[in-house]
Amino acid sequence: MSAFGKLRTLLSYSDRHPPPLTKSRAYHHHHRSNQSSREGSFVDVPKDLLGEIERLEKLFTIDTAKLKQITDRFVGELEKGLSNEGGSIPMNPTWVMSFPNGYETGTFLALDMGGTNLRVCQITLTEQKSEFDIIQSKYRLPEELKTGDADELWEYIADCLMQFIETHHGDTSKLEKLPLGFTFSYPATQNYIDEGILQRWTKGFDIPGVEGHNVVPMFEEALARRGVPIKLTALINDTTGTLIASAYTDTKMKIGCIFGTGCNAAYMEDCGSIPKLAHLNLPPETPMAINCEWGAFDNEHVVLPQTPYDVIIDKDSPRPGQQAFEKMIAGLYLGEIFRLIMVDLHDNHETHIFAGQDIPKLRKAYSLDSSFLSAIEEDPFENLSETAELFQSKLDIRANGPELELIRRTAELIGTRAARLSACGVAAISIKKGYKTCHVGADGSVFNKYPHFKARGAQGLREILDWPEKEDPKADDPIEVLAAEDGSGVGAALIAALTLQRVQAGNMHGILHPENFK
Ligand code: BGC
Repeated sequence: MSAFGKLRTLLSYSDRHPPPLTKSRAYHHHHRSNQSSREGSFVDVPKDLLGEIERLEKLFTIDTAKLKQITDRFVGELEKGLSNEGGSIPMNPTWVMSFPNGYETGTFLALDMGGTNLRVCQITLTEQKSEFDIIQSKYRLPEELKTGDADELWEYIADCLMQFIETHHGDTSKLEKLPLGFTFSYPATQNYIDEGILQRWTKGFDIPGVEGHNVVPMFEEALARRGVPIKLTALINDTTGTLIASAYTDTKMKIGCIFGTGCNAAYMEDCGSIPKLAHLNLPPETPMAINCEWGAFDNEHVVLPQTPYDVIIDKDSPRPGQQAFEKMIAGLYLGEIFRLIMVDLHDNHETHIFAGQDIPKLRKAYSLDSSFLSAIEEDPFENLSETAELFQSKLDIRANGPELELIRRTAELIGTRAARLSACGVAAISIKKGYKTCHVGADGSVFNKYPHFKARGAQGLREILDWPEKEDPKADDPIEVLAAEDGSGVGAALIAALTLQRVQAGNMHGILHPENFK
């Protein structure tokens, strides 16, 4: 077992830009919030392509006034989601009713069914404050399972768990049932912490017969069929796990975010501010973590500026009309937005980029993921030679100089819009809660790997919240978005531990199966 406690140091939100490799040439084009590692130059870009770049800039740029308008509405929508009437943001109570104090102990299993992988962990929260040991195995979540049959999915998961337990515990027949926290990162209604009624699939999943049902019995039946010695003690969302795991090592952490395949946040509310739970008569000051499911923000498109490309993304997704905000930010969609633009500029515009070339590879939906955009944005060379190679090797497309400039600018626009929109959500929760300063724990591939996402997000927050320019560039922002602790591993274990503790102390609120907590 390896000691992983406090393994990850908190990275600063404002990451450093690599210096440009060559001094930039004159830059004649109006460049809004570029945050780019390379100054670029549109001097040689022909007029028609420049026109396209300008059109895209208009479509994708979100200025300060718009950011503020979006944030305003966001604050109101958070409130609405907590009310009896409800709104498009679900604001799901999670029955996670306290922050950890760092002294939680015990050994727990955690299962993470994210958007891309399946991960099984065993976490031991040790006697040392805020420390833990973890062992883990990752399993690929086969693409077919995401749109296949529910039984196959649960059976695959049960098999992975069985394999993990056999590897680490040997003979399963003599084992007592191990407590497990199940990170199920989709919108779910939880009347209890050990229940999760799937509201709708997101992130491209589309498995019939699950929406509207409690997934816990389905999961447990698969375990029983295989004889897997596990009892589920908590079903959690990755954002709630991120919030709790981050608060375990940093008490300033108030919000947990995921910017990955999907996009969402959780924070701690007090029960007195949740009108839709009023009938339960919980003490008003009692904390309750809320899984916002903010991906659904503005599904009705009142403030979000939708481009023609966003319209196509939505229309062709398995759940049109859902997850409007997520579809502009999450990693699942960024590469696809880019691809749609490229195909459009090849087919439909006077510009005809990649003229005379067939583009069968580029025509394949969802063939470019967000790492493709990351690579474009990371190209350090003035002539974008790495981008040219990428287009050649991945897509069999030869892009000329002006086209490469267009490609780079398009990636910047998509990445910048995503980061700035994400700031609206963080700002909205902070405003709603009156947090002038706090830490926000964030995880996910876009947050961790997409170039400049952190700095662009921080710049968005600064504009929305009217922070003065920093005198010392290294100084912290009042609200800092930092790399989080492992939410779906450590966070799930902590939530299982906290739930066990409160049940033992007699707080039985939101517990469906008390027998599993003995
Ligand atoms: C899901 C959320 C999840 C987020 C990040 C969204 O699609 O609805 O439950 O937290 O993705 O994984």
